[in-house]
Amino acid sequence: MLKKYFIKTYGCQMNVYDSHRMAKLLENEGYEKTDCQQDADIVLFNTCHIREKAAEKLFSDLGRALIIKNEREEKKLDTIIGVTGCVVQAEDGEILKRAPYVDFALGPLTYHKLPEVLHDILQKKKEHIVDSSFPVESKFDFLPQNEACGGCSFLAVQEGCNNFCTYCVVPYTRGVEYSRPVEDVIKEAKRLVETGTLEINLLGQNVNSYHGEDENGKERNLAYLLYKMAEIDGLKRLRYTTSYPADMTDELIACHKNIDILMPYLHLPVQSGSNKILKLMNRRHTREAYIEIVQKLKKANPKLEMSSDFIVGFPGETDEDFEQTLTLVEKIGYIQAFSFKYSKRPGTPAATMENQVAEKVKKERLDILQKRLFEMQTAFNLSCEGKVFEVLFEQTGRHKGQLIGRTPYMQNVHAQAQIDVLGQIRKVKILSSTTNSLEGKVVL
Ligand code: 5AD
Ligand code: SF4
Repeated sequence: MLKKYFIKTYGCQMNVYDSHRMAKLLENEGYEKTDCQQDADIVLFNTCHIREKAAEKLFSDLGRALIIKNEREEKKLDTIIGVTGCVVQAEDGEILKRAPYVDFALGPLTYHKLPEVLHDILQKKKEHIVDSSFPVESKFDFLPQNEACGGCSFLAVQEGCNNFCTYCVVPYTRGVEYSRPVEDVIKEAKRLVETGTLEINLLGQNVNSYHGEDENGKERNLAYLLYKMAEIDGLKRLRYTTSYPADMTDELIACHKNIDILMPYLHLPVQSGSNKILKLMNRRHTREAYIEIVQKLKKANPKLEMSSDFIVGFPGETDEDFEQTLTLVEKIGYIQAFSFKYSKRPGTPAATMENQVAEKVKKERLDILQKRLFEMQTAFNLSCEGKVFEVLFEQTGRHKGQLIGRTPYMQNVHAQAQIDVLGQIRKVKILSSTTNSLEGKVVL
């Protein structure tokens, strides 16, 4: 019988991409995927360290994994437990101290070593392997070819961040910026399209600072890469996430006018509407500069809609500063957004800043902000009723005959459709809406 693997992914889209690549590595080693942890010979937790809660979740899941491991042991079944991702980078020693039964821990830049590590553990050559180094070689050169696992695929083009926003662990967990060469990206993109992908989302922690080399060793920017991507036959939709406002060049903005397959939706985190807080956050943009960028983007493509991330209760944030965030939200009008209470991350400058905001105040501000953001999202969804959108169907729904797909604006759409529509784009008329999804009817 084939050995089975189970992967639980926490956090961002980059982690989803990494998990997909690790799954392929395991499949090449002869393992088969299972969604049932009890059946798994290898259990992997691909972790996130961005906010406190995300890291805590890991340790409760590890506790449960130990119980399952013990139950399996009674049935004479071995279980290997591995931890990957940003928690490993941030606190590798801590993981083994708190969960000594973990067999291995690999950081986000070393997971290509998974087969070698498994081999060593299975041969009982080594135990409790930890590798959270920042290797000189790129893991991308060691990973097997990527393949689509549906109509939408992520493709990592850039990793790490040099911005050092004062609240953020990413520069410490994912290291300094690295951009993959243009040729590698295009090769992976073509392979994804050949294996069934219609939509590619180019990923990077700071994707719009992309500066990969072309085949002549010349540095190229994200705009260049987008034009190259748009030449790929069969690719119907293109996105890029996540962008940093100060790196939104006019050349990149022009792509939203010139590239048909670039979706009219951009996630551009502003974090705060107060210039004082943006400065304390070490963001290299002001409120005014952000507004100007959005105006230019909407001029380039009048159909473009925005989404963002916000942090409330950053150290030093007063009621007036928070008010500035609310007025910015009104000015921009987001169709979707993610908002968080500021959470102290060990080792980051903001964790030791003066004037930390009380938890109660953070919660009040988050409630106010989210209420307004949800209202905007609901209103946008309502405005879609009666309209027809191209929907890329990605998964089956909970009800019989129901499929779930996404509009160009990333809204979830539920519709009755034949199973062979999975992975395909269809025209769908929107019949009703809620804050989080749309209900529609396939018309073509
Ligand atoms: N506290 C709260 N939110 C944070 N984010 C990043 N670091 C923190 C932190 N320490 C949020 C930012 C970022 C998103 C991915 O997570 O809004 O854009
Ligand atoms: Fe973190 Fe700022 Fe880099 Fe985003 S831009 S990953 S928030 S340091």
